[in-house]
Amino acid sequence: MLALKEVLEALRQLGPDEFRVLSAVERGMSRYMYVPMEEISRLTRYDEDYTSALVRKLNSMGLLQRHTGNYVGYILTSRGYDCLALNTLIKRGVLESIGVSPLGRGKESDVYPGKTAGNKLVAVKFHRIGRTSFRQTRKLRSYIGERRHISWLYQSRLAAESEYRALRILHPSGVSVPKPIDWNRHIVVYECLEGVELFRAPELADAALFRDLLLEEILKAYGKGVVHSDLSEYNVMVVGEKPVLFDWPQWVSSSHPMAMHYLKRDIHNILKFFKRKYDISYDLNKVINKLMSRGEGFA
Ligand SMILES: Nc1ncnc2c1ncn2[C@@H]1O[C@H](COP(=O)(O)OP(=O)(O)OP(=O)(O)O)[C@@H](O)[C@H]1O
Ligand SMILES: [Mg+2]
Repeated sequence: MLALKEVLEALRQLGPDEFRVLSAVERGMSRYMYVPMEEISRLTRYDEDYTSALVRKLNSMGLLQRHTGNYVGYILTSRGYDCLALNTLIKRGVLESIGVSPLGRGKESDVYPGKTAGNKLVAVKFHRIGRTSFRQTRKLRSYIGERRHISWLYQSRLAAESEYRALRILHPSGVSVPKPIDWNRHIVVYECLEGVELFRAPELADAALFRDLLLEEILKAYGKGVVHSDLSEYNVMVVGEKPVLFDWPQWVSSSHPMAMHYLKRDIHNILKFFKRKYDISYDLNKVINKLMSRGEGFA
């Protein structure tokens, strides 16, 4: 498991020349499996001796990984990628500091608390696709499409971009999601929620009302053309007595051929949870029909 503390320590030891090398390797990785020294030197426009000294330093810091085979080449490690993305967000003034104890850890992400330059508390989500193998492919299929060879780095960036895009559609439309702030590479910065996930929330005062509010949000998102597709009690936060829906990288558009299937599955997961924990019975088809008959969005 990657410790953010080490990334932050590394970040402090990097100057503009080191960043130039990291970003050259990043660019080189779109053309090479392992980026050769000559290519890094060509991209940085530093001579080979200077480039190689910087590469050695970054390699020893664990930000670049060296591969020997037919030729010697380098790739970014996920720690190196973290440094590039954090540096960009810091330079933009989006992030001022970041805490090292995670707000949460998922299978494909680490979420840390951060502060903006204006001292606002935010959540900083590092997408880490490739850490697990099976689930990721299922979840990402809709936006990877048919491309087969796709690196963890590119997948993680796509996941972040996709999540940010969903929040940018939903938040201004009044759907209850964390307010998006910015994104870079595999990192999304958004509002920090002061609540507790539904699956481990203490007994709700009015569970039936909460369930209906939640269904209402799913319906509103659908009305904006967005289906979460991985909704469950794990991706809903109880903030006050209100639901906030988070974890959106795998969303699909309502015009997606499987949109209806995912929508029903999302609704079903929620209904099942409320049946199990609060004994609120349901008839899935009745609920779906009732929502659909409301018109708006549900055509
Ligand atoms: N905006 C936020 N504010 C506070 N905590 C958050 C926020 N977003 C995420 N978290 C915490 O981080 C955890 C992981 O976040 P999230 O569900 O978005 O990713 P994930 O679980 O990796 O995705 P997956 O469900 O695919 O495994 C959450 O369960 C929650 O505890
Ligand atoms: Mg989650």
